[in-house]
Amino acid sequence: MTAKLAVYPGSFDPLTRGHEDIVRRSLSFCDRVLVAVAHKRTQPKAGLFEIAERVAFIREVFSDEPRVEAVDFTGLLVDFAKSRDAPMIIRGLRAVSDFEYEFQMALMNKHLWRDVETIFLAPHEKYSYLSASFVREIATLGGDVSDFVAPPILKALARKIVKP
Ligand code: PNS
Repeated sequence: MTAKLAVYPGSFDPLTRGHEDIVRRSLSFCDRVLVAVAHKRTQPKAGLFEIAERVAFIREVFSDEPRVEAVDFTGLLVDFAKSRDAPMIIRGLRAVSDFEYEFQMALMNKHLWRDVETIFLAPHEKYSYLSASFVREIATLGGDVSDFVAPPILKALARKIVKP
């Protein structure tokens, strides 16, 4: 039997406790999870952390978990997933507001690669209102995000953000 490998793609700028929760729960039905950080060129948002830093955070946070691999990718997600022989895409679905974009993306990815399946996981309720963009914004404005990111990321945020 072949191992079930899932791709969990995103910007992860930075990885939040919500992302961590999705990865760890995915391991209950996948053998391995590939956390795939999309390059800036392939996604429109301006970033805070460099792609290499985002990947390094994921590796550090999951250093206890050999079933999780962190990589970066450029180009189409389906091409990357195909190259890794991973026809399963995991996405977290926090609220109805996420739905339209996620639904479109899942169907478009299915159009591009008919063997791919997208699996949506609801977040743990304590992370249902959490997003990496809020973490960036709150941290930038001097707020406390220690409940939302792992300690190495918290330290990196403090280093990155130059106080006025
Ligand atoms: O965390 P995000 O920013 O919501 O993740 C979006 C991401 C990176 C998964 C999406 O932008 C993506 O898959 N980018 C790769 C380029 C691609 O395949 N685009 C077509 C999507 S239908």
